[in-house]
Parts: sequence; structure tokens; C-alpha cells
Amino acid sequence: MKNLLLILVPLFLCINSFIFSQNIGKLAYGKKGMVVSAHLESSKIGIEILKEGGNAFDAAIATEFALAVCFPIAGNIGGGGLLVYRQKNGNIGSLDYREKAPAAAHKDMYLDTKGEVIKDKSKNGALAVGVPGTVAGMYALHQQFGKLEWKKIIQPSIDLAKKGVIVTEKEADKFNENQNEFKKYNIHTPRFINDKKWKKGDTLFQPELANTLVLIRDNGRKGFYEGQIAALIVEEMKNQNGIITLDDLKNYQPTFRRPLIGKYRKKTIITMPSPSAGGVLLIQMLQMLAPFDIKKLGFQSEKYIQLLTEVERRAYADRAKYLGDSDFFPVPIDQLLQPKYIKERMKNFSFEKATPSNETKEGTLMPISEETTHYCVMDEEGNAISATTTLNGAYGSKVVVKNAGFFLNNEMDDFSAKPNTPNEYGLIGNEANAIAPNKKMLSSMSPTIVEENGKLQFIVGTPGGSTITTSVLQTILNIIDFEMNMAKAVSAPRFHHQYLPDMIDYEATNPNFTKIVIQNLEKKGYYLKKRQPIGRVEGIKVLPDGRYEGGADERGDDTAIGF
Ligand code: GLY
Repeated sequence: MKNLLLILVPLFLCINSFIFSQNIGKLAYGKKGMVVSAHLESSKIGIEILKEGGNAFDAAIATEFALAVCFPIAGNIGGGGLLVYRQKNGNIGSLDYREKAPAAAHKDMYLDTKGEVIKDKSKNGALAVGVPGTVAGMYALHQQFGKLEWKKIIQPSIDLAKKGVIVTEKEADKFNENQNEFKKYNIHTPRFINDKKWKKGDTLFQPELANTLVLIRDNGRKGFYEGQIAALIVEEMKNQNGIITLDDLKNYQPTFRRPLIGKYRKKTIITMPSPSAGGVLLIQMLQMLAPFDIKKLGFQSEKYIQLLTEVERRAYADRAKYLGDSDFFPVPIDQLLQPKYIKERMKNFSFEKATPSNETKEGTLMPISEETTHYCVMDEEGNAISATTTLNGAYGSKVVVKNAGFFLNNEMDDFSAKPNTPNEYGLIGNEANAIAPNKKMLSSMSPTIVEENGKLQFIVGTPGGSTITTSVLQTILNIIDFEMNMAKAVSAPRFHHQYLPDMIDYEATNPNFTKIVIQNLEKKGYYLKKRQPIGRVEGIKVLPDGRYEGGADERGDDTAIGF
């Protein structure tokens, strides 16, 4: 026995120290800081900024700009985002750098003379573009919390754009899938168009984007919203029937907002308020789930799938009816989160049968593109940032600003172009999310921070269009109820329900949707459909000994780096 222990104990210590010394990959550990993002290069740039003495805000800004270079499908300077932060002293806040409708936008701008939605008008091309918010957001974040010089934070992204990004297999596939659209929506030839098929290992050089970033480095927000780049954006609009003006750009302002706060078990959930629907829905869903012993139901057991489906259905029904930009529409947040209301919503829930969303089973097709991206940063002092940033669909509107080298978003599609008519994500909306000049379109982005007894526990977020909120919800349950480590929690299989279409969408690779589970659910009145992977979650957890555990989703090229 003693001999066995002499072998086993050192072996255990050795494995343990190997595991916990791992500082890069899908699971990574760090004592002084952690960055998790959609690409190796952006995580590297973020971590270098921390190593150079920057704080988590500096590293977040560096990561955001780097994503615009190495992850053009969603990383951006032509889009916008939402983030929540927690400072080392426990102060919390959120930053809304969401795009907004141009001043010339109007309620019926995507309808034909018969009042019908014109297919694709809000999805592709210059008219689909909202006034970008990313550069203004990052500049405001730096003004408020930055420690290193702005120039120092932007420089690595300029270097990367010049040096070139090595294209991964997934990126090559996406570029190839979109070649025709890049050609259709541009009257010049952007760098993303290639004569030959893109393949893994190719290098993407972006000298025009490097020049744009130099202007931003040297002039701050003015380098984007005024002068040469603003003029190039407006020229692009004029050439392609877009409506963004120089004034729209100059007037854009990001907004610091009080985050939404909710409770789940012993944890405090700090998440994004309007213009995100995600935060409200997340807190609603967690409150609906709180009375149930989730762990006892079992991870993705038939009953678990049923319970989550019913909770998601109810929350997304509220989204369609009540949620929009609260600066423009009276969103009844307090009522939606009232314990009595939540209890009432679940009153007709039963494990015996489904609660149908409507009388017909036909829904709208699910989207083929849900490209947004999330990153998480924590620094040695305990500052934490959870940020989701987006062009909306893959490569946004597909419009690349000529001589400036970046994609413009297609965020206008996140408005409800017509009441009860589904958008790109199959989501329906109403008056609350109707288009109006300078209004912000409703988002699902749900960057979230979780505390217990005033102590930071973990941060999490994901891309995925309408599936964002349900992916964040399921990841939170994976961590709190199923006690998974961060890598397992973010990569665990997922499913999604969004009220309409009345359908449980489950990942084709999800092993928990067995034949028998599917049959049983169908008997109870559920409709199910296989689909492509759902979301790409990133997260960082604070371990009891104070080290950080980063988890990067297996579904993409996402990478966690600690130090
Ligand atoms: N564009 C995706 C979202 O904001 O929900």
C-alpha cells in the first residue's frame, strides 16, 4: 500500500501541476490574467497588453480591435457591441456601443408599396447598415478606465493587419461561401475576394485596414467618425443607396448604463440592459428555473429539455411583444421581472405535455448565419470585462468600405421591419422594436458577470443571434448546477427554443437527443429539428485559490490564454 502511494501521490501532483500550468488552449489557467476570444491572434494581443502593464480595459480594447483584423466575419470596427464590466473595487457597469438607425431611417423603409417586406433589403447592402458604434465605444471605455496610452493599445492590430493573418480552415470555408455576395455588394474588389479558393494557411493582408487603424490610433474616435474614413463611409452609402450621413457619424455616442441585476440560487447575475433583450430574458428564465432541482433532473435529460424549452418559449414570447430600445419605448422591465409575474408565467407548465406557441407547427426557417463574437478579459487586480461585438450576420452587410478595408454591419435587420414578420433569426417583433430615426435595434447579446457574496465568480457570453441568450443560460446552469469546469461548460452540447417557430432546435452532434428522447418529446407535443452548432461561448472563472480558469468553445478557433 505504502509503495503504491509513493507512486500515486507524485503522479497525481505531476498531472495536477501539468493541467494547471496549461496556459493556452480550449482550457487555460492563469494567475495574473486571462483573455478568451474567437481567435488565437486576438487572445495573444490582449494578453500582451496585460503583460505590458495594461489593465483589463486596455486588454479588452486591444482584443476588440484585433478581432476586427483577424476575425472579419464578426470582429469589427464597422459594427457595434455591448459589454458589462466589474472593476476591482466591485463597481459594476455596462457600455452600450450598439449601432443605431440613421436619422433618415423610417418605419417602413424595408416595405414595398403593398406593405410587404422586401426580401434581403434589411440584410445585405448599404441600406442594411446601422451607424457603427465600436470605435466610439472603445474610445469612451479607454477615456473612462484606460491605463496604457491609446496608441499603444491600437498598434498591435495595425501591425497584424500589415503582417497578415494566417487563414484557418474555418475562415477559408466562410470566405469561399461568401465570395458571390462579396462581389454582389461591392463595386470594388475588397481583399476578401480571391481569384482562387481560399485555403487554410493562406495569408490575408489588409493594408487599407491598417491605414484606417493608423487614423484611429492618431486621432481617437475622430479618426473614424470624421475626416477621411467618415467621407469614405458616406461615399459608399451614396454609391449604393445607403442613408448614413456625415452627421449620423459625427453624432454617434455610446452610453454607459446601469446593468440589470438578478438572483439565481446564491449568485448575483449582472447582465446587459436595453437595448439588449438578452439580460431581461436571462434573468426571467433563471427565475422561472429557480424552483426546480436542475441537477436532479439530470444534464439534458428529457425532463430538463422540456423544462428549459418551456421557460425559453415563455421568455421569448415576452421578447416579441414587449422589448425594444428603452430610450424610445416604455419597456416594462420591472413588471417582466416581478416574482409574481414569473410565477404566473409558469403556472400552466406541466411535464405531461407541451404548451404550444400557436396552433400550427410550421415555423420560419432558422438562419444560416449567426455571426457575432464574444471575448472575456480578467486582469491581476480583478477587473473583469465580458463583451459581445457584432456585424450581425456573417460579414454584416457584405459591404466593404472602399480604401478603408472593413465590413459594415447589417444590424438594421435586428429591428422589426414589420410587426410579426420574422427577421434573419426567425425572431418576430412588434411596435417596441419598430424602426425609428436614431433608435437602437433590439439585441440578444447577453454579456454576463456572476458574483456570490460580493465576490467575482465567473464571466460568460457568446455569439449566435437569437440563440445567444439560451446559450448563456445553459452555460450558467452548467457551471452553477452541474459544476462543470469552464471548458466543459462552454463546449457542452446545446439546444434552443424561441417561442416562434415552435421548435426545439438541437445540435446535430448532441448525443442527448437520442431516438427515444425525441420520440417521447414528440408524443408530448414538441417539434424538434437538428441544426448546425449553436453559439461559441467564452468564459473565465475565478477558482477558490484565486487563479483564473478560461474556457474557449470547441466549436470554433476560439482560444483561451492565461499568464
Ligand atoms: N446582431 C445580433 C444581436 O445583436 O442580437
